[in-house]
Amino acid sequence: MRCDGGLRYGGDYNPEQWPVEVWREDVALMRRARVNLVTVGVFAWSRLEPEPGRHTFDWLDQVLDLLHDNGIRVALATPTASPPPWFSLAHPDALPVTADGVRLHHGSRDTYCAAAPAYRAAARQIAAALADRYAHHPALALWHVHNEYGTTCHCAHTARAFRRWLAERHGDLDTLNAAWSTSFWSQHYTDWAQVDTPRATQYLANPGHLLDFRRFWSDTLLAAYAEQRDLLRAANPTVPVTTNHVLGDWVPVDPGRWAAEVDLVAIDHYPDAVDGGAEEQTALAADLARGWARHGVRRAGSPDRPAAWLLMESAPNQIHTGGRMHTKEPGRMARHSLSHVARGSRGVMFFQWRAPAGGAERFHSALVPHAGPDSRVFREAIHLGEMLERLSEVGDAPVDAPVAIAWDAASGWALGHPGMPSPWLDHHAEVAAAHRALWRAGFGCDIVLPGDPLDGHRLLVLPALYLASDATGDWVRQHVHGGGHVAVTWLSGVADDHARVRLGGHPGAFRDVLGVRVEEFHPLADGTTVPLSGGGTGRLWAETVRLAGAEVVASYAGGMLDGMPAVTRHRFGAGTAWYLSTRPDDATYGRLMTEAARAAGVTPVCPAAPSGVEAVRRRGAGASWLFLLNHTDRPQRVPAAGVDLLTGATIDTEVRLPAGGAAVLREAVG
Ligand code: GLA
Repeated sequence: MRCDGGLRYGGDYNPEQWPVEVWREDVALMRRARVNLVTVGVFAWSRLEPEPGRHTFDWLDQVLDLLHDNGIRVALATPTASPPPWFSLAHPDALPVTADGVRLHHGSRDTYCAAAPAYRAAARQIAAALADRYAHHPALALWHVHNEYGTTCHCAHTARAFRRWLAERHGDLDTLNAAWSTSFWSQHYTDWAQVDTPRATQYLANPGHLLDFRRFWSDTLLAAYAEQRDLLRAANPTVPVTTNHVLGDWVPVDPGRWAAEVDLVAIDHYPDAVDGGAEEQTALAADLARGWARHGVRRAGSPDRPAAWLLMESAPNQIHTGGRMHTKEPGRMARHSLSHVARGSRGVMFFQWRAPAGGAERFHSALVPHAGPDSRVFREAIHLGEMLERLSEVGDAPVDAPVAIAWDAASGWALGHPGMPSPWLDHHAEVAAAHRALWRAGFGCDIVLPGDPLDGHRLLVLPALYLASDATGDWVRQHVHGGGHVAVTWLSGVADDHARVRLGGHPGAFRDVLGVRVEEFHPLADGTTVPLSGGGTGRLWAETVRLAGAEVVASYAGGMLDGMPAVTRHRFGAGTAWYLSTRPDDATYGRLMTEAARAAGVTPVCPAAPSGVEAVRRRGAGASWLFLLNHTDRPQRVPAAGVDLLTGATIDTEVRLPAGGAAVLREAVG
C-alpha cells in the first residue's frame, strides 16, 4: 500500500448515501478514532455514471479532497459489482442465468454475467474513467477492484467461454471425455457444441464437469479482475491493486491461484460461530490469508517481495448467525482485530463506517452505529485506533509457524459433488478441525497450498486433501523422505486432479508414504461415533485400514471394525507419516496433533499460557513480539517478559491479562 509506515485502520465509507454535512462529521470522527484508510466507491456506479457515458465525479472529487485534507488515505474501489439499472435494461443478455435457466433481474447487487462482453466492456470503461481522473490523486493508497468476486452464470456467453477454456485445458474431446469419465451414463461428447455449463439436469451431474466449471469460473472472474487491474496499473504503476475475497466455507474462487495477480491479498471475514468458535475461525482466516499471500509471491516468481495481506472487511458489532444478529461482547472486536494483526494483517478494516438509514444492509453493524458516536461501539473504535497506532513497529515481521496445514480450493469443490459416500464431507471443515486442534494446543500454523516449499515446517498436515496429482504425491514423499513429518487424514489423496478415484486401495496418492492400504470406507451416520482404543471417539467416517508397514497408534474399539487400525504411524525414509482414518473428537485430535508435533520437534508458542489464552509470536531482525489474547471471561496470568506495547508497562516475569484483554510484548532477544 502507498501508505506511511504503520497499520491501516478504517473501513468501507459510503458518502454517496449521505449529505455533505454528514461527510464533515464523518471526517472529524475518523480523526478522533485515528482512522487512516477508507474504502470509497464500492457499489457507487449509479452515482458515478447515472446514464451511459455521463460521469458525475464532482461529489467524489470533494470526498477525496476532504479526506486528503484530513490525512486519511483512500482505497478507491471500482464499482463493478453492481451495474446500474440502465445497464441491465440496455444489455439484457448481460444479466445472469441460473443453473435452471432463470434470468435474474436488477434490484439487488452482483446481478451481471462476468462472461458477457457488454458487462466486461462497461466495467473496463468505468474503471478507466476512474483511473483517468484519480490515478494521481494524493489520497489514493490502493485500488480496490470490484467486491467479492463470486457470482455465477449459465448463459450462452458463459457456455461459449467454458468451451474455449475446456479446449485450452484438455486440447481435444478425447482427453476431455477421459478426464470426465463420460463413458458412464452415455455422456460421451462428439462435438464441442454438445458441451454446456452444468445446468440443472435429471439426476446426479458429472463430477469432472462440475469441477472443471468451478475452475473455469474462477479463471473467468480472475480475467475480469486482471483487465481492470492492468488499466489501473497503466495509469499509475506505483499504486497497488487488489480485490477482496469473501471468506468462510463458501469458496467461489481459488484465492491461492489469484494471489499472484494482486499486490496484496485482501480478505473479508465475518465469523459466524458464537461462544468461542469465532476466535478459532478468526485465527484460521488470518492464517489462510497469509498462506495465500505467500503462495502468491512464490507463484509470481517474486519470493523476495513481502507476502502482504490485509483484513479488508470485518464486523464492528453484530453479525448474522443463522438469521439472528448476534452482538459482540465488549472487547471482542479488538481481540479479533489483534488476532489478525498478530498473524500479519497490515491493518484492520471494517464494513462499514456509518450505518445507513435504509437499504438492504441497514441493520449491519458499523463503527458509527445508528445510535451515533455516543455509543459503546464507537468508543471501542477509538480505543482500537489507539492500540493499532502503538503496534506499528511490528511491521511485516514474519509469524512463527513451524506447522503447515495444506488447503486446496479444488479439493473443497470436489468434495461438495453429488454421489459422494457421505453428505458431510467438507475440506474446509476438515482444515478447520485440524487447525482448531493445533490452535487449541498452542502451535503456530501456516497454511500452504499443495506443492508450496516447506521451509522450516517440520510437520505437514493434510486434512481431507481429496484431490492429489502425482506432483502432490511427490511433494509429500520428498518432505517425509528427507526427514519431515506428515499427518494425513481420511479422504486425502483418494482422487486425481480430475476427481477420478485412484485405484488399488486408498489413499492412492500416499499409500507408500503412510504404509497403509484402505480397503473400505465406513461413513458414519450424523451424530454417531465410534470408540477408539485409549479413549476418545471418531465421528463422520471410519475405514478398513490394512497395514503395509505402518504401526498402530489407536484402533477402533467396537462395531464391525473392532480391533482394526484407526490411527497409524510409519517411518518412511528419514521421516514419519501419521494416518488418521476417522475424525477424532476435538480432545483426541488435540492429543494426536500434540504428539505428532512434539515428535517433529515443534513446541507451542507459549507453553505456559493457560487454556483460552491465545499466543502468537512474530520475529523480526533483532526483535520479537508476543501477542497474548485472553479469550476467557476471567483474568489470566501468563509467564512472560518484555515491554507491553499496548500499555508501555515493563513486564518482568508475568503478564496479567484482564478478562477479554490483550497484551503485545516486545521481547528481549539475546
Ligand atoms: C460483504 C460485502 C459487504 C457487505 C458485508 C456484510 O463482505 O463485501 O458489502 O455486504 O459482506 O457483512
